[in-house]
Amino acid sequence: MSTTTDRVPVEVCKGINGLEKVILREVRSSAEVYLYGGHVTSWKNDHGEELLFVSSKAQFKPPKAIRGGIPICFPQFGGQGNLEQHGFARNKIWSIESDPPPFPTVNSNKAFVDLILKPTEDDIKTWPHSYEFRLRITLGPGGDLMLTSRIRNTNTDGKPFTFTFAYHTYFSVSDISEVRVEGLETIDYLDNLQNRERFTEQGDAITFEGEVDKVYVSTPTKIAILDHEKKRTFVLRKDGLPDAVVWNPWDKKAKAMADFGDDEYKHMLCVEAAVVEKPITLKPGEEWKGRQELSAVPSSYCSGQLDPQRVLQTS
Ligand code: BG6
Repeated sequence: MSTTTDRVPVEVCKGINGLEKVILREVRSSAEVYLYGGHVTSWKNDHGEELLFVSSKAQFKPPKAIRGGIPICFPQFGGQGNLEQHGFARNKIWSIESDPPPFPTVNSNKAFVDLILKPTEDDIKTWPHSYEFRLRITLGPGGDLMLTSRIRNTNTDGKPFTFTFAYHTYFSVSDISEVRVEGLETIDYLDNLQNRERFTEQGDAITFEGEVDKVYVSTPTKIAILDHEKKRTFVLRKDGLPDAVVWNPWDKKAKAMADFGDDEYKHMLCVEAAVVEKPITLKPGEEWKGRQELSAVPSSYCSGQLDPQRVLQTS
């Protein structure tokens, strides 16, 4: 029987196709992070249930981004800009950083990993900027999953740079038609399916009956995703990330994606903590920070009872 003393909180090993991955373990929960993309591909609760969706057709093969989990979109969200869709961070090999610059508060968690992405000379040809992108992924003792990004402009030519960003989280759900998202009611959104036209979300919580691709702007810091069938609620808390993208490709788009099963749209929903509407500009030496915290709680502990005052930790 495993005891707390023989549990290894952080393990580096080979994953699919020999790609390196980091396993984080807490009391009974776990998470997996591929260095390819700095990409979280698994988050399991204390019953060993997978909470993130990863397609059965996902290719763990550079340069194609892994379909599912938590892709990192940087320095461009979506297709608005000169770069490839969702930027390049999700298809670069990140490194483990053993001694990153400290966070303002002491981290008492044991199951965490610090990753770093810096441009190669070749990368600078596509995006002519020097940066340090530090990503800390932490599995808390209660099974919460925290991602903190710190992006610094290290240009030596005095030039600022501008970027958009998203944690493109794919939540695993029992049946999309049984899912409700709370926290985005009455919020304005840009509809990607209607030329990014601006609308205001009407009515109560959001439910799903067809394809959705919306960028909600200036949202509250807490969003709940209620899965009635599973009796599970995901709570997403975010800081430094004003927008939230909600995406489900539904049947037609699902069929058009080579790395996504035809019926898999029923079992996933992307709710993405993001900066899209107002890009971030950093001058040399400046750093931006964006954090998301995910918890999965039984639905009986419903959204009304969730503590809106809860403050995000700073590391
Ligand atoms: C969402 C976008 O964030 O990601 C959608 O809003 C896009 O427009 C989706 O289709 C998936 O993108 P990709 O590049 O991973 O297929």
